[in-house]
Amino acid sequence: MSGSDACSPAQVARGSRDASSPQEPCYLLRNMINKSSPLCTCPAGWKLLAMLALVLVVMVWYSISREDRYIELFYFPIPEKKEPCLQGEAEMKASKLFGNYSRDQPIFLQLKDYFWVKTPSAYELPYGTKGSEDVLLRVLAITSYSIPESIQSLKCRRCVVVGNGHRLRNSSLGDAINKYDMVIRLNNAPVAGYEGDVGSKTTMRLFYPESAHFNPKVENNPDTLLVLVAFKAMDFHWIETILSDKKRVRKGFWKQPPLIWDVNPKQIRILNPFFMEIAADKLLRLPMQQPRKMKQKPTTGLLAITLALHLCDMVHIAGFGYPDAHNKKQTIHYYEQITLKSMAGSGHNVSQEALAIKRMLELGAVKNLTYF
Ligand SMILES: *[C@@H]1O[C@H](CO)[C@@H](O)[C@H](O)[C@H]1NC(C)=O
Ligand SMILES: *[C@@H]1O[C@H](CO)[C@@H](O)[C@H](O)[C@H]1NC(C)=O
Ligand SMILES: *[C@@H]1O[C@H](CO)[C@@H](O)[C@H](O)[C@H]1NC(C)=O
Ligand SMILES: *[C@@H]1O[C@H](CO)[C@@H](O)[C@H](O)[C@H]1NC(C)=O
Repeated sequence: MSGSDACSPAQVARGSRDASSPQEPCYLLRNMINKSSPLCTCPAGWKLLAMLALVLVVMVWYSISREDRYIELFYFPIPEKKEPCLQGEAEMKASKLFGNYSRDQPIFLQLKDYFWVKTPSAYELPYGTKGSEDVLLRVLAITSYSIPESIQSLKCRRCVVVGNGHRLRNSSLGDAINKYDMVIRLNNAPVAGYEGDVGSKTTMRLFYPESAHFNPKVENNPDTLLVLVAFKAMDFHWIETILSDKKRVRKGFWKQPPLIWDVNPKQIRILNPFFMEIAADKLLRLPMQQPRKMKQKPTTGLLAITLALHLCDMVHIAGFGYPDAHNKKQTIHYYEQITLKSMAGSGHNVSQEALAIKRMLELGAVKNLTYF
């Protein structure tokens, strides 16, 4: 309604207390209501009638336009059917793969194990910490090793491990991925610009120096746990020089890792090499002592699934799997144009890993969200 001759419902309700002049519609309306005088006796009767009709039309229009809001107010969305989460299910199913290995191993390396009692480790990296105790002690003193309360308090943990595979392209799985209690990502896999397919939530990211994203703030959340997977002693040195701003070491890496890495030290965790041992021994059946020349090791992806089976009650995987060996043109990642050729000499046996994941799928220990 517009114009000074309009009569707002509030004005009508206020009635005689308004100091409106007798010529104003509100005055007429008030008179009509008070004296119940027939409309025809009033010279402005037609004008009034037209106005009443207008008010009616506006009211009807208003009530119709409210219909949407009405639906919103009284519409209770049916709670989304989350998959039932059975406590201990992943552990139970995975025990067929892993045997009865001890589950009281900490997920992350603990300062106390290198400070008070120096827990001896049977292996050197990547399966143990033998020989790296001193640098590790310095690193653990400036980083953190707790599992956040938000994860600790979950009664049943639904996890998704997001691999970096090309099958995530155009998958539209982003929303589904964000709904899991924990989203575990790998290496430098980006989320910025790929949210629709891979989601944006990152509870944990497993990485090693050469696979660290140069812009960690953009590709992670402020509370993402950045979990360092150490393959060699240099990896501990790298994180120490970054966090303590010591002189950077450039030698000893197969690819230049970031020299400046803008992260909060409290976000950093060091993965217990125990999981590397389990993945290598139980899933890939690799010998723990290999000749230096042909060192085979699990991929970060297989390691992440191993970890998830230990930490979570439900484990789903997305974006795992490589193209067939004869498919030389197919890119392997959802975010970059590299092919299987780049995997040569990486020390990963992708066909052996595929067999291990297939076994997990058959046992129902994990479920695939993309074709595997
Ligand atoms: C676990 O396995 C080891 C060797 O395979 C065996 O000696 C031990 O009794 C097993 N423990 C349980 C609780 O089954
Ligand atoms: C993804 O979708 C876009 C647009 O629909 C299409 O051009 C592209 O080829 C698709 N990529 C893959 C890998 O399917
Ligand atoms: C990789 O694994 C496959 C399947 O187990 C095996 O046949 C092959 O020999 C392995 N390759 C290497 C280089 O060890
Ligand atoms: C999981 O992988 C199998 C093949 O191993 C495939 O048949 C199935 O469609 C996949 N599931 C999803 C949701 O893509």
